[in-house]
Amino acid sequence: MNKKGIMRFIFLISIGILVVEANAQIPMEVFQNPKNLTVLPPDISPEELRATMFSIGQQVGMRCSKCHDFTSDTPYPERDYASDKKEPKRVAREMMLMVKNINEAVSALDRGPKHKAMTVECVTCHRGVRQPRQIEEIFETTTKEKGLTVAIDKYEELREKWFSAGAYNFSAWRLGGIAQKIFDSGDTEGGMQVHALNLKLNGADGSFFFHRGESFEKQGKIEHAIADFERAFELDDSFGFLQGRISQLKEQLKGKK
Ligand code: HEC
Ligand code: HEC
Repeated sequence: MNKKGIMRFIFLISIGILVVEANAQIPMEVFQNPKNLTVLPPDISPEELRATMFSIGQQVGMRCSKCHDFTSDTPYPERDYASDKKEPKRVAREMMLMVKNINEAVSALDRGPKHKAMTVECVTCHRGVRQPRQIEEIFETTTKEKGLTVAIDKYEELREKWFSAGAYNFSAWRLGGIAQKIFDSGDTEGGMQVHALNLKLNGADGSFFFHRGESFEKQGKIEHAIADFERAFELDDSFGFLQGRISQLKEQLKGKK
């Protein structure tokens, strides 16, 4: 993709965002005569530069002053947008080049003449947040550094803040996976605590019962496991594959008695 190409895609996705940000009062002069562009075309129009900056800011969840060297109190004439002093700006520039390379690779895929390749954007990875981490990684790191209780609180905070924006996957399935992983690491109590969180947040979701059922089964709590697997199937018939397992567990239970 050439420079025009990058601009086209950045510009297109920014149009919707511009409407939302229309009230942000940044003087248009700011975008005239840029002095330090190395990725964007140096002859970019002020309108396009403005749209691009609003767009990337939204896509990675960062305000202008996170990348540019001033604070929100600095008066406009003193704001030095050309400066490369702040690290995030330098990283963002590398990212812009990286995205360009990715898009070149994507559009070079040999998928036949009718195929219309998708465009990768900052938001494809970042989903509106500065560090594009998966929820599992955040949970694990927080548990390691600060303990499970803090990780559970943090999960709830993130869910509150980001649920509707879709920045993270808060599904019962993924949280069930987190619980199981903790459980399988030998921390039975911790695993059950995360299952309890999942029950609180997603108690009507079959995949919560499926995951907790598995933990019960591993603990040898067969009756509980059967009850959870049956509930999973009741709530969601895509758990039909559990029926064979339920019968086996029932046999096992009979054998014990
Ligand atoms: C994620 C980091 C990031 C954010 C957020 C960001 N910018 Fe930028 N900005 C850059 C990068 C990188 C460049 C240089 C691009 C290049 O080299 O082609 C740049 C260049 C500019 C320039 C041109 C400066 C010059 O003279 O070369 C202006 C003006 C500008 N940004 C304004 C803004 C405004 C206003 C905002 C907030 C709405 C904003 N930027 C948000 C990273 C960012
Ligand atoms: C292919 C996925 C991907 C895409 C697309 C992507 N990024 Fe990133 N970005 C990352 C990853 C991963 C990191 C963390 C890098 C690290 O661990 O040092 C990151 C980190 C950053 C950071 C540093 C954040 C911080 O403070 O730690 C900035 C700024 C950034 N990206 C801006 C952008 C911009 C602007 C775009 C679009 C032009 C973009 N990224 C597109 C994956 C991506």
